[in-house]
Amino acid sequence: MGRLDGKIAIITGAGSGIGQAIAKRLGSEGARVVIDYIGSAEGAQETKRAICESGSDAEIVQADITQRADVDKLIDAAWSRFGSADILVNNAGMEHKSNFWETTEEEYDKVLAVNLRGPFFLTQRFVQRLMDAQYRGGRIINISSVHEDMAFPGFSTYCCSKGGLRMLMRNLAVELAPLGFTINNVAPGAIVTPINKALLEDKPKLEALLKNIPLGRLGTAEDVAAVVAFLASDEAAYVNGATYTVDGGLMRNYHEQ
Ligand code: BGC
Repeated sequence: MGRLDGKIAIITGAGSGIGQAIAKRLGSEGARVVIDYIGSAEGAQETKRAICESGSDAEIVQADITQRADVDKLIDAAWSRFGSADILVNNAGMEHKSNFWETTEEEYDKVLAVNLRGPFFLTQRFVQRLMDAQYRGGRIINISSVHEDMAFPGFSTYCCSKGGLRMLMRNLAVELAPLGFTINNVAPGAIVTPINKALLEDKPKLEALLKNIPLGRLGTAEDVAAVVAFLASDEAAYVNGATYTVDGGLMRNYHEQ
C-alpha cells in the first residue's frame, strides 16, 4: 500500500533534476504520473522507466508551459490517459544571471513566463477541469525557492518570479480552499541539479556557499521530493498556504559573498 495509491499527479519539468526526483518518488508511492518535459526526451523516458519499474504507470507529454495551447494539452492529458487528476506539481523553472541594469525585456519575459505565468495558467486549467468534473478538489504544490523570500543579487528576474509564486500560493490558499483545494510551496535552497551547474563547477564559490549551509552539504533532489510526497498525501490534508523550506538551514544563516 502506497500513500498515493489511486492518485494521479501532473508534474512539470519532470525529465531532470528536482522534477524527475518528485515524479519518481510520487510514482514509487503509488501515484500514476503525467511527466511533462520540454528539453530531454531521454530524461523523460528515464523518469517513466523508473515509475513503471516501481509498479505504477506514467504518460509522457512534451509541453512548453509558457504556451497556452500546451498548458491545456498537458492538463488534459491526465484526463485522456488516466480519467482524472488529483495533484499538480508546478516544478518547471529557470534562472538567468544578469545585473539588474543590464537585464533585457526578453530575459525578463522568459523567466517570468516559465516560473510564474506557467504555474498560473496550469493551476487555472487544473482547477477548471476539476470543477467541471464536480470533483472534491485537489492538491497544488509549487516548487519555489528560498528566493521567494530572500534577496539574490544578480537574479532579479528569478526573485520577481519566485516572490510572485509565493503570493499566488497565498492568494489561492484562500480563494480555492472552499472548493476543496490545498496549495503550498516547497522552497529548495542549494540543491544538486542542472540549474546549479555553474555553481557546482566553481569551487571557491561552492565552498563559500557550503559555509553558509548549517548542515554542511548541498541538498539532493530526493530531499525535496520527500517533502512534496508528504504534501501530496492525505497526511497533509490540513496544510494550506504554507511554504516548506528545504535548505539545510541556509535561510537562517545566509551571507552574500
Ligand atoms: C537557486 C540556486 C541557488 C540557491 C541558493 C536556488 O533557488 O536556483 O541557483 O544556489 O537557490 O541560493
